Amino acid sequence: MEKIDKKARIAVLCGGLSNEREISLRSGEKVYKALLELGYKKVKKIDVTKNIARILEKEKIEYAFNVLHGKYGEDGCIQGVLEFLQIPYTGPGVKASAVCLDKDTTKIILKEGGIPVIKSCSITSTDELEDAFNMLDFPVMVKPAREGSSIGMEKVNNYEELKAAVIKAREIDKKILLEEYKTGVSCTVGVLEKDGEVFATPILEFRTKTEWYDYEAKYTAGMTEFILPAEFSKDVTDKIKELAVKSHNLCECKGVSRVDFLVADNVPYVLEINTSPGMTDLSDLPAQANAMGMDYNSLVETILNTAGLNK
Ligand SMILES: Nc1ncnc2c1ncn2[C@@H]1O[C@H](COP(=O)(O)OP(=O)(O)O)[C@@H](O)[C@H]1O
Ligand SMILES: [Mg+2]
Repeated sequence: MEKIDKKARIAVLCGGLSNEREISLRSGEKVYKALLELGYKKVKKIDVTKNIARILEKEKIEYAFNVLHGKYGEDGCIQGVLEFLQIPYTGPGVKASAVCLDKDTTKIILKEGGIPVIKSCSITSTDELEDAFNMLDFPVMVKPAREGSSIGMEKVNNYEELKAAVIKAREIDKKILLEEYKTGVSCTVGVLEKDGEVFATPILEFRTKTEWYDYEAKYTAGMTEFILPAEFSKDVTDKIKELAVKSHNLCECKGVSRVDFLVADNVPYVLEINTSPGMTDLSDLPAQANAMGMDYNSLVETILNTAGLNK
């Protein structure tokens, strides 16, 4: 893999317009510092606004390190701007980003590719609720199709609860994924690329005090115990890692992603693919990389070296 010149003009894209703005700013600061420590001389940290194209041109940016999350940053929008300006960028391209931001389209592609996914359907109008109700067994997990951080998600046990949860979730996204609820182990695996090889990081397991890995468990100290590496059998561990890389490739992700799983009765089901994983002190991917002997700065350089166009 060609190394990027230490004098290249690199922008760290962070902040932005999504719900995950604050987290992204923290990731951005950390990546910015790492790049300076690594000896890159011309690094700019940019809080992304509507003027981003003008700023990138004015600063004569040559590479973009993307740590934006959610809407406009992880969904193909900023990737489209960077393609248009011909600025190589980290992470998956326009199509993979757009596909993976939507948990429903992701699952359609994964299912077609033979990856185990939990039975689900999506609705874009409450008129479709009754058909969905007839298709699925309760309990059901209600999820806004294009949101993260477990926001708007609810486990429901009957039609009344389903309807109420869907109405609530539709304040976040008009498209809702209804997925059968499974009791199991929640975990996540990073996927990285180095010297053209795509590989999985160790598995990070979440043991929560709550019933599932909800918003409270994610953002309240002490509510989740992190097991790294996760304590699955060798067979299940190998299977999860294989499925993570396969899912990354099936959705045409490039450079980096993080694949979330729910393991029930020893079957690893893929829940979703995150195409712009958090890079804060407490984020999953840096911990996973560290568990395989890759420190934070090496992780940043590994990701930077996969920057490209036309992905
Ligand atoms: N079908 C399901 N059954 C049981 N728990 C689930 C299901 N889907 C998601 N969860 C729980 O919710 C968490 C977040 O789900 P995920 O699909 O990754 O959404 P997000 O984008 O909010 O991270 C998972 O880690 C898991 O604990
Ligand atoms: Mg997730």
